[in-house]
Amino acid sequence: MSTSTALLASTASVHPWRIGLIGFGCVGQGLYDILQQHPGSGFEVARIVVKNPTKARSLPAARFEFDAEALLADDSLDVLVELIDDADAAFRLVAGALRRGRRVVTANKAMLARHLPALVALQRAHGGTLLYEAAVCGSIPVIRTLDAYFGTEPLRQLTGILNGSSNYVLTRMGTGGTDYGPALALAQQLGFAETDPSLDMAAFDPRSKAVLLAAHAYGLFLEPEQVLNLGIEGISATDIAFAASRGQKIKVVAGLQRLPDGRVTALVTPQLLGPESPLFGVDEEFNGVVLEADFAGEQFLRGRGAGGHPTGSAVLADLAALRQGFAYGYAKTAAPPTHATDLEIEIYLRTDEPRLIDVLDFSEVSEEADEDGYVVGYVTLAHLIAHRDLLRQHGAFIVRTGHLRAIGEAAVAVLKTASATV
Ligand SMILES: NC(=O)c1ccc[n+]([C@@H]2O[C@H](COP(=O)([O-])OP(=O)(O)OC[C@H]3O[C@@H](n4cnc5c(N)ncnc54)[C@H](OP(=O)(O)O)[C@@H]3O)[C@@H](O)[C@H]2O)c1
Repeated sequence: MSTSTALLASTASVHPWRIGLIGFGCVGQGLYDILQQHPGSGFEVARIVVKNPTKARSLPAARFEFDAEALLADDSLDVLVELIDDADAAFRLVAGALRRGRRVVTANKAMLARHLPALVALQRAHGGTLLYEAAVCGSIPVIRTLDAYFGTEPLRQLTGILNGSSNYVLTRMGTGGTDYGPALALAQQLGFAETDPSLDMAAFDPRSKAVLLAAHAYGLFLEPEQVLNLGIEGISATDIAFAASRGQKIKVVAGLQRLPDGRVTALVTPQLLGPESPLFGVDEEFNGVVLEADFAGEQFLRGRGAGGHPTGSAVLADLAALRQGFAYGYAKTAAPPTHATDLEIEIYLRTDEPRLIDVLDFSEVSEEADEDGYVVGYVTLAHLIAHRDLLRQHGAFIVRTGHLRAIGEAAVAVLKTASATV
């Protein structure tokens, strides 16, 4: 037996940790399946709670119960794993468990993005531990990498493709010439997109993830609404052709960037990317994250961002980390930077509603094509945030070029980053 196998075996033989599993959908079943296939993991699912008593299940009915609150008080459980699809109920359960000082794992990014400061405070007050690697980019170990490995080192920027569904749609449009509607239908057929696709396609889902990344990368707690999110619901073949004419692709990119004055900006929008970016080759339903650290330099993580097994794998990694006594340090929250929104961003805007061009109040226009209905130029981030609903209502499509600058700054002073992926 090798040393590592012996170590694993000895950990597992101490006593298997008893899991209280809340939610047995895509991720809950994925975790269960992984534990079945990997009996030496040192974890066993002791109790399972779901919502609907009449639903057909893949396990005998006797395995299921319906009162999640009951698990919170069961001290024979070593850890609670919350994998439900209801953010409000998830917050009540996770907060209740932390008030009891319990160990909890969740994948619920919408809940975490809304309540992270409160959940951190509950851990500090009551001694519980909450881990949530699965909430951002499924199988990609980005939260723990940021928190533990880069907990001390300053980061220049983090850019990422955090939503596999929209990336799949963009890949079909870019490589297959498929229109948006059929590409989305294909994503839904393959299970990559929700039946109500707006969370993915309007970039609400990656916005939640960006909020979590900002906390661990920079120590910055943001409200989801503070992060600009623009999606791809208005995209057309004209936009794909515009990108291709420049040798670029359109990707939905989350960009967190430290500005020269130390403030940090955060936004999630479509962006033009060239082959120089590691994210250029992150296609299909894959996710990718590029970290640029002051001393380590550039790091690139790529992997599956969703699905029962990839996401269940991240939950298992959290369980193993908990067993080793790991907790997030949130080191950078001790001295958080200021959030910056007083910036100008260079965008491509295509719309058949001329009023939108007035509303956005371009400070500089570098390109206009009346026949294709697009304009390229600088607008303020504040205007984009203020009018994002209006832009969405009118089906406008916006993509960032990757250039941003201080308000009023000349075009030559662009705060363009080394890899142009912000
Ligand atoms: N799917 C992914 O690839 C993925 C990736 C990363 C993160 N996540 C996150 O993981 C979480 C779970 O996602 P999922 O895709 O597995 O969801 P899902 O397939 O819709 O399953 C949700 C499960 O939660 C149960 N549930 C809902 N409300 C409940 C309540 N109040 N009490 C007890 N059980 C309740 C449901 O019970 P019934 O079975 O009775 O309906 C179901 O078993 C979500 O927060 C999601 O954002 C998912």
